[in-house]
Amino acid sequence: MKAVVNMKYSSPDYMELREVPRPEPTHKQVMVKVLATSVNKADWHILNGKPFPVRLMAGLFKPKYQILGADISGVVERVGKDVTQFQIGDEVFGDLSSIGFGGFAEYAIADEESLAKKPSNLNFEQSAALPIAAVTALQGLRNKGQIKAEDRILINGASGGVGSFAIQIAKSFGAQVVAVCSTNKLQTALKLGADSVIDYTQGDFSGSGDSFNLVFDIIGNLNAHQIDLLVKKGGRYVSCNFSSTVVLNSLYFSLFKGKKLVNMLAKVNQADLQYVRKLAEEDKLLSEIQEVFTLDDVPEALHIMGKGRSNGKLVISV
Ligand SMILES: NC(=O)c1ccc[n+]([C@@H]2O[C@H](COP(=O)([O-])OP(=O)(O)OC[C@H]3O[C@@H](n4cnc5c(N)ncnc54)[C@H](OP(=O)(O)O)[C@@H]3O)[C@@H](O)[C@H]2O)c1
Repeated sequence: MKAVVNMKYSSPDYMELREVPRPEPTHKQVMVKVLATSVNKADWHILNGKPFPVRLMAGLFKPKYQILGADISGVVERVGKDVTQFQIGDEVFGDLSSIGFGGFAEYAIADEESLAKKPSNLNFEQSAALPIAAVTALQGLRNKGQIKAEDRILINGASGGVGSFAIQIAKSFGAQVVAVCSTNKLQTALKLGADSVIDYTQGDFSGSGDSFNLVFDIIGNLNAHQIDLLVKKGGRYVSCNFSSTVVLNSLYFSLFKGKKLVNMLAKVNQADLQYVRKLAEEDKLLSEIQEVFTLDDVPEALHIMGKGRSNGKLVISV
């Protein structure tokens, strides 16, 4: 099969599209014919081996995962003898990051728990955009942010993969959403359902006097003073981009300000993939896709990802 291979920690320019053996599923695994995949910051970090702690998981000197790509959608090609939930021909989507990646390829191996049936109303490209980004938004808002219908929520970094889903998921809970993005992405944020938008290129917005029950900070760049101004007493601040501000200030904010500050690390699971599928099938969640690439173009898509300025998701059609 064809796959995009990375043999050393490096830039996308050293990735190669080449023939490799198909992976073999164990008796508990599923082989998926990958029809689409999408890129995430996780792929970018593992490709570069940076920041250094990434190497504790992905290999100290050279990458353990030589075919990256976590998000996939496709069709079940083979099932191990102990697989109970999927059959050959099922259309599925899922996240391979907990079982060694492998999505930038024509075939990939998955555990049952990393997959769910694909949303019936989305095509394979739209479905491949969902797993990591939409589940991160869901877990950030619902699990860590304890979102409620009466909340007013600020989403910082609302125009990228996670942010474009966060706007829609927050709206699905009935909350009021203020989206922070750059000038040429304001219209997209409104189209996705934001009640109002803030253009961060116009300067520091934290001192406007407006404050929120929940701040979901996808960029992780707000300092303690800004967080204090933006989060109402009794409110929550959740960063999905590991923020040292949270580590240094969470106890103080909790004891003296009555505000909860948390960092989060999403863990995609089948129940949340199913939750996301249901939202999509109820027309409450659509995939905002900047561009669809081919397998040859994975390095180009990763270069764009690395710049951190995407408008929604970057998807690969396989
Ligand atoms: N903790 C977890 O489990 C988890 C899971 C997934 C992702 N993440 C992290 O979440 C971050 C975002 O991921 P993503 O997939 O959404 O990335 P992405 O698709 O590259 O989106 C980033 C977005 O942020 C916007 N942006 C850049 N600087 C900004 C600023 N100062 N203020 C507001 N917006 C800004 C960018 O566009 P404009 O600047 O043009 O508006 C872009 O649309 C990444 O750092 C990733 O590592 C964490």
